[in-house]
Amino acid sequence: MSEGTFSHVSVMADEVLRFLAPRRGGLYLDGTLGGAGHARLILEATSPDGILIGMDRDAAALAAAKSNLAVFGDRAILRQGNFSDMNVHLDLLEIDQLDGVLLDLGVSSHQLDSPERGFSFREDGPLDMRMNPAEGVSAATVVAEAEADELKRIFREYGEERWAGKIARAIVTDRERTPFVTTLQLADLVSRVVPGGRVPQRIHPATRIFQALRIHVNGELESLQAGLDVAWKRLKAGGRLVVISFHSLEDRIVKQAFRALAASCTCPPRLAVCVCGHQPAVRVLTRKAVRATESEIDVNPRSRSAVLRAIEKLAVEDHQNV
Ligand SMILES: C[S@@+](CC[C@H](N)C(=O)[O-])C[C@H]1O[C@@H](n2cnc3c(N)ncnc32)[C@H](O)[C@@H]1O
Repeated sequence: MSEGTFSHVSVMADEVLRFLAPRRGGLYLDGTLGGAGHARLILEATSPDGILIGMDRDAAALAAAKSNLAVFGDRAILRQGNFSDMNVHLDLLEIDQLDGVLLDLGVSSHQLDSPERGFSFREDGPLDMRMNPAEGVSAATVVAEAEADELKRIFREYGEERWAGKIARAIVTDRERTPFVTTLQLADLVSRVVPGGRVPQRIHPATRIFQALRIHVNGELESLQAGLDVAWKRLKAGGRLVVISFHSLEDRIVKQAFRALAASCTCPPRLAVCVCGHQPAVRVLTRKAVRATESEIDVNPRSRSAVLRAIEKLAVEDHQNV
C-alpha cells in the first residue's frame, strides 16, 4: 500500500444505512470512524444539515477521515478517543441526545496493512498493536512481562487458541534468550511450536495469537461493554444503535447487552407475579444476526465474519423503570 493513502472497504454499507436509517438533519455518532467510509454515507444521507460526530482512538485514522470528510465542512465533528468515553465528548459539545450511533468494531485494513503498527504477522514490524500508540502498553511489553499463566489466559480467552499453554510456555522460555520485539519473531515462534505449524495453511497459525494480544492490549471487550452501556442512553426515543462485530466474543457481548435492554420483567421465574415492574428500554431490530451477502463477501472477504445487530430506543414512558 502506498504511504498516505487509507485503504479500507466499509463492510455492510447497505445494511448499516437500512438499520441506522439516517435522516435529514439528524445527529449521529460514528464511534469507529476509521477512514470514514460509513461516516461519509451517513453525512450524505443526512444532507444538507445533519451532523456526524466521528470518534477513533487512532490519530492516523482521524487524519485520513478529516481529509475524506473535508467536503462536509463543520457538519463533521471529529474527536480522538475511545467510544466508551463518548459521554465526555458529547458533554463538551453540549450535545444531549443522538438519532443514531454506529460501532464497526475491530481494526481497519489500513491498520492491518501498516507494518509499523505491529498488527500483522505478514510483514515485519514492531510488536505494538495499540490503536492509540500513546496509550497503554504495547504487545511487546505484554509478551516480555506477563507470566506464563497470564499469557495462556489471554491466548485462550481472547483467541480461543487450542495450544495456548504450549505457546505461552515457549514464549517464557525463549524470551530469556532474546526478547520478542517484532511481529515476525512472534509469528515464527507460533509456527514452530504449534503441531503442523510449519505446513502452509489457509489460516496462519499465529492468527488467533495476534487477535488475542490485540484484544488484550486495547482492552477491546471492556471498551465494547462500556460503550454499549453509554450509547443507548444517549439515544433519543426512536434513535438507533447499530453494531458490527467480527468475532464471537464481541458478538456475544452485543447480543447479551441488547437482550438485557429489551427484556421486560426480570423477576426470578419462581415468582408468580412480577414485582420488578421492569419495562423494555429498547426494541431489537435484528431478531437474527445480519450477515454480509455472498456478493459482498466475493468482493470483500473481510465481510465474511461481520455480524450486524441493531436496536431502537423506546419512548421514555416505556422504560421509566430501567
Ligand atoms: C473497522 S474500522 C472502521 C471502519 C469505518 N467504519 C469505515 O467505514 O471506514 C474500526 C476503527 O475503529 C477504531 N476503534 C476500534 N475500537 C475503538 C474504540 N473502542 N474507540 C474508538 N475507536 C475504536 C479503530 O482504530 C479503527 O480505525
